[in-house]
Amino acid sequence: MRIILIGLVAISKVAIGAVIGIDDAPSGIGLDGPTIYDQEGVKVHASFASDAEGSFRVPLFLKDGLDPESKRRERMERSRRMKSFAEKPPSSDVSSAMLTNVRDYYYYGYIDIGNPPQKFSVVFDTGSSNIWVPGDACKSSACVEHRRFNTSQSGSFMNTGKKIQIQYGTGFIAGDVGQDTVKVSSSVMLRNQSFAVTNLEDRTFELPRSQFDGLFGLGFTGGSEGGVRAPVDTMVDENILREPLFGVKLFRSSEKSNGEITFGSYDKSYKDKLQWIDVYGNYFWATTMEGIYYGDEPTNYLYGADKVNSLSGTLTPQEKARASRKALLDTGSSLLYGDAFTLAAMSTRIGANVLSGEIPCSVVPSLKPFKFVLGGKNFSMSPSEYIYHDESSGVCEVQWMPVSEYLWVLGIPFLQSHYTVYNIKEHKIGLAKMTH
Ligand SMILES: *[C@@H]1O[C@H](CO)[C@@H](O)[C@H](O)[C@H]1NC(C)=O
Ligand SMILES: *[C@@H]1O[C@H](CO)[C@@H](O)[C@H](O)[C@H]1NC(C)=O
Ligand SMILES: *[C@@H]1O[C@H](CO)[C@@H](O)[C@H](O)[C@H]1NC(C)=O
Repeated sequence: MRIILIGLVAISKVAIGAVIGIDDAPSGIGLDGPTIYDQEGVKVHASFASDAEGSFRVPLFLKDGLDPESKRRERMERSRRMKSFAEKPPSSDVSSAMLTNVRDYYYYGYIDIGNPPQKFSVVFDTGSSNIWVPGDACKSSACVEHRRFNTSQSGSFMNTGKKIQIQYGTGFIAGDVGQDTVKVSSSVMLRNQSFAVTNLEDRTFELPRSQFDGLFGLGFTGGSEGGVRAPVDTMVDENILREPLFGVKLFRSSEKSNGEITFGSYDKSYKDKLQWIDVYGNYFWATTMEGIYYGDEPTNYLYGADKVNSLSGTLTPQEKARASRKALLDTGSSLLYGDAFTLAAMSTRIGANVLSGEIPCSVVPSLKPFKFVLGGKNFSMSPSEYIYHDESSGVCEVQWMPVSEYLWVLGIPFLQSHYTVYNIKEHKIGLAKMTH
């Protein structure tokens, strides 16, 4: 029962074009963009509740359906994709970014909407920018199985009359755009925040795969659908946060909670360890990716990156950034997703089966870290971080899967290895090896 939540939104035509630089996007991009009925901006207000500190902690809970059947399906899916890439190498076909659902691995937290508050579990997703929850009139199984927002029970709800459809990497929703009070944790209060109340959800969001009710996008307004103001931009514009940032900590497991997001501050014990890199574009938390190295070896495994890097001297930093591969840091994605050429080479280097991703557990201790060069800086993942050991079946396998040549998605395994801080105002991401 695992679902691949790949950049819950990042794969729409609009978004992928935007993140990789629309001019670099191949023509005939094989994806239908989301239909937006009304692009008009929606006025949003936000303010504090009682807690005026400007720093709020939101606990996150890990949902991990590690049943053998879904593990088997995941390996089959990886194999299928690797094979199809081998037969038909990726060229300009970004449609390969479309995924089927095979695995269920995500963190969720809680929000309240309306007065009196109605509670929802949501995935806090750095790879999208909209909030949505199931609507009470929605008849889709995915809606009926989850908490639904009853608009007539909230005294402060306003229907804007706008409709919205969002195509995610692994799913689809349609609904009405409304405005109401959205409360994150006990005290980050966004008044008149726009969000979607769904009237249609596809099977991606059905139980038992999707044990969350909705989504809370942490991307920028530029990445939102329907002209809706992104909640993080609201938080900054309305001076809700002490510092214009949020920090994300995802644990592999923990007794109390499995992770946390702090809005308005971050864990200062990481202050001196954070390496800051620039966000690319004004959509999601994307950055440039210049290379992937194994241990201290000189080979750059990132397909095509040497070519761009060798041109460094002749390109302006902006030109180089545009030509570079891009990577999304994505709390809503279950794995690392990249191009099949690079991933096959990485699997080969460590002795994993290229198709299935499996590797004998006995060799894992002798492997070296992979280093990902993001925004010109090295960030490493150790073997126990990039290889998943399924205790129940005794299988070890790589935590990556081929998707798109253009946009890499560094999902949960990468974010479990790194504490990340997202500066909304300065468009920078700080990363440090996660130690606590
Ligand atoms: C929503 O709330 C109203 C008013 O309390 C109620 O009449 C209606 O049945 C509710 N809708 C659903 C689907 O529960
Ligand atoms: C929210 O919208 C309503 C209706 O337009 C308005 O009366 C109210 O003042 C707004 N609240 C804030 C905090 O702007
Ligand atoms: C990253 O690590 C690789 C391999 O050790 C090295 O060749 C490269 O110079 C490093 N890059 C940076 C920016 O430190």
